[in-house]
Amino acid sequence: MSSSPKYYDAAIIGAGAAGLMCAIEAAKRGKRVVVLEHADAPAEKIRISGGGRCNFTHLRAHSHNYLSQNPRFCISALKRYTPRDFVSLVERHKIPYHQKTEGQLFCDESAMDIIDMLLNELRDNGGELWLQTPVTAITKNDAGFEITTPSETVRAHKIVIATGGLSIPKLGSPFAYETAKQFGHVITPMRAGLVPLTLHPDKIQALDMAGVSMQARVKVGKTKFEDGFLFTHRGLSGPAILQISNYWQMGQTLEVDLRPDMDLMEWFRAKRKTRQSLHTALFEILPRRLAEKIMAAQGLSPETVETKIADMSDVKIKGILSHIQPWSLIPDGTEGYRTAEVTLGGIDTKDISSQTFESQLCAGLYFIGEALDVTGWLGGYNFQWAWSSGWAAGQAI
Ligand code: FDA
Repeated sequence: MSSSPKYYDAAIIGAGAAGLMCAIEAAKRGKRVVVLEHADAPAEKIRISGGGRCNFTHLRAHSHNYLSQNPRFCISALKRYTPRDFVSLVERHKIPYHQKTEGQLFCDESAMDIIDMLLNELRDNGGELWLQTPVTAITKNDAGFEITTPSETVRAHKIVIATGGLSIPKLGSPFAYETAKQFGHVITPMRAGLVPLTLHPDKIQALDMAGVSMQARVKVGKTKFEDGFLFTHRGLSGPAILQISNYWQMGQTLEVDLRPDMDLMEWFRAKRKTRQSLHTALFEILPRRLAEKIMAAQGLSPETVETKIADMSDVKIKGILSHIQPWSLIPDGTEGYRTAEVTLGGIDTKDISSQTFESQLCAGLYFIGEALDVTGWLGGYNFQWAWSSGWAAGQAI
């Protein structure tokens, strides 16, 4: 236990993507900074991201790829520190990367490359990182902030809260929201985002499709995404479902088009001119298991019924189509923070500067990254928000 508190220009709480970027930028400007991290290792969410390869940015990140009560809040930071800026940093460190789906950049080898890059930048610019240092209290006085940890008291002129959101209970943290409330900030309603959707157990049992995947277009209201789609033991997942989960609210109908590339009514009409049976035709356009389920739901079995499409009524065809294009269903819920990638909602941005990320209620206090009410789509947008908001605060502290 040291007797006299250590003094810093700025203390950054949380060694995740946003906190490390902020500390690096402030350290580059000659500020004396310390990053306080309660875990044994920094940036655990970077380590597990993108299947271990970290989808570190999206080349076309734009404000319309983010959800917030204040959709314009993210514009300034995203314009000042762009995906290209982060790519330049990655290239300076000679980290091999590739573009997976259009615009999404991943490490070729390991997400650890990104963590090592950030830690090297921090160290080379003179920033400090203290691991296993949970912050138990923050108080403000005329000189700045006093930060209590089990081992030391740290004094800092400015303090940046970069402790992220609630997703993945072992790694998530309510700290930013509690601190924001302590200083008078409002928290917008929060829920799990980029998360698989669940179906009622009876529906899962009836479907019995776990493991079947395909390309699909999913739609809630006017919002739609087309991407990979997967049936799971609990419900629905895959990139298309994770994307739409940011927009889906409890009780809403989800429309799933399992053949977004085809007009199936037209296709059925064309098939009527042939002698093809329904099951042979359906096997052409859907995974076999799914085609069989759809026929069974209509009281048709491939073993016993050689139904020719030519003999099918419009009503029967529409019955088949209602399971494919679109298939309308009401999910039961989401898998929650246990498997979510992000927290939707968070610290209301109305009392935060979009230029500096300083609180307008408490001078010297800053909030960055996922803790704010700014949530990106799947595809590298959330890390880009962490880099951009961290960079902007790093210029100001
Ligand atoms: P982040 O959570 O990264 O960092 C917060 C830090 O604060 C952590 O190190 C935490 O331990 C620390 N902390 C918390 N409370 C503290 C306290 N009281 N005292 C001290 N330290 C404390 N995004 C993306 O763009 N591309 C991707 O590929 C993925 N993949 C992905 C996979 C999975 C499984 C998840 C869960 C998430 C993703 N994401 C993602 C989302 C991305 O990980 C997330 O948006 C960013 O990590 C947010 O960065 P922050 O720095 O705001 O928080």
